[in-house]
Amino acid sequence: MKNNILNEGYKTSEYFFEKGKGDKIYSNSKYFIDTSNCAGTLLLGHNHKIFKKSISDYSRQNISIFAHPNLHSFNFSRNIKKIFHWFDKIIFCNTGSEAITKSLRICRSLNKKKFIVNATGSWHGSVDQFLFYPNKKLKPNFLSNGLKDDDKKTLLYIPYNDLKLTKKILNKNKKNINSIFLEPIQGCLPLENVSKYLKYLRKFCSNNNIPLVFDEMITGIRSNNFSVQNHLKIYSDITTLGKIIGGGLPIGIIGLSKKVAKKISKNNAIFFGGTFSGNSLSSYVGNETLKYIVKNKSIIKNINDKSSFFQREMNLFFKKNKLNLKIYRYSSIVRIVYTGKKIQNRDQRDFFENKYIKKIKTFRKFLLKKNIYYSSNGIIFFSHATTLKNIKYIMKQMKIGSLKYFKR
Ligand SMILES: Cc1ncc(COP(=O)(O)O)c(C=O)c1O
Repeated sequence: MKNNILNEGYKTSEYFFEKGKGDKIYSNSKYFIDTSNCAGTLLLGHNHKIFKKSISDYSRQNISIFAHPNLHSFNFSRNIKKIFHWFDKIIFCNTGSEAITKSLRICRSLNKKKFIVNATGSWHGSVDQFLFYPNKKLKPNFLSNGLKDDDKKTLLYIPYNDLKLTKKILNKNKKNINSIFLEPIQGCLPLENVSKYLKYLRKFCSNNNIPLVFDEMITGIRSNNFSVQNHLKIYSDITTLGKIIGGGLPIGIIGLSKKVAKKISKNNAIFFGGTFSGNSLSSYVGNETLKYIVKNKSIIKNINDKSSFFQREMNLFFKKNKLNLKIYRYSSIVRIVYTGKKIQNRDQRDFFENKYIKKIKTFRKFLLKKNIYYSSNGIIFFSHATTLKNIKYIMKQMKIGSLKYFKR
């Protein structure tokens, strides 16, 4: 069958998924245990009862969809504020990338300074200003055709979790920094011990009146206390959320601190509109899902425990078999890193992993043959629906595969 779709993944994918239930996805009458769960969106798994119920309630009540203010986004915003208590105002968007685009707009309205700072390894979606990757000298290279040279010139990288070099770069450029964006804990290398680094950024931004933006698209809701910020008690000026908080439907959210909300209400007229911004479907399903997760406190703990079990067992196995692999984890964000060496950021990760690109691809194909879907970015998100039995099965196959492909 000819494939007409140009979006990422379609060209090379062997499978086009048709449906999902619990911890499994289906294509061509084959099933796979899903370790991606819609890139971390489905905290409760595929077609969870609360998802089905809220979709059917939405339809039964004739809620419909509006391009004008609706009660459902209003109710949703009130619940979000109960959890993200430092949000003063909320802006609804349709994707994470839109939330980042509009956050950039907010930052550029707050000051006219040149540089947008991004931490290496932080992913912010399909946003022109961030579709770059740093070279060895931390200069931006294009990740896509069709981007502007100007955006390249105004992007400044800081090396994530490298305090010394970060301090040097920030201090050198402090008069010209518009804003700092980062994932406080990154999907590409989920580390537990970054609070010293984040505290420094918080202090630097406060001292220099620079907006600090934490992109919690994957850590939001999944973390202990529902965010890295609430877990570490280090708060940004602008927060971006997405994925889980939409309950399985498209969403992006910007949360503004009181300080930023006050500033933009006084001086600015910033455009935040969009036909589906705050749409009643994502708001209704997102709100029902959020209420369910908050009420059932054991959900987050349960997924954390499963992820921790997976990490512990696999790392013991890697060590015992002298395999050059290690599992990194923050709450239930898990990544196999293809080096046993101690690393502190993505640059170091890639330095080691680039040697194994072919082997990693073969490993992924091996797992697919064993009915395990392991996403190409290597991030594993278990869900509440992932059974212990299936985690043990994944571990068994990963052990076989890692001995086969990574034993020196
Ligand atoms: C940290 C982070 N920020 C932003 C995005 C972009 O979100 P979306 O794909 O919904 O546009 C993603 C998506 O993976 C993400 O992980």
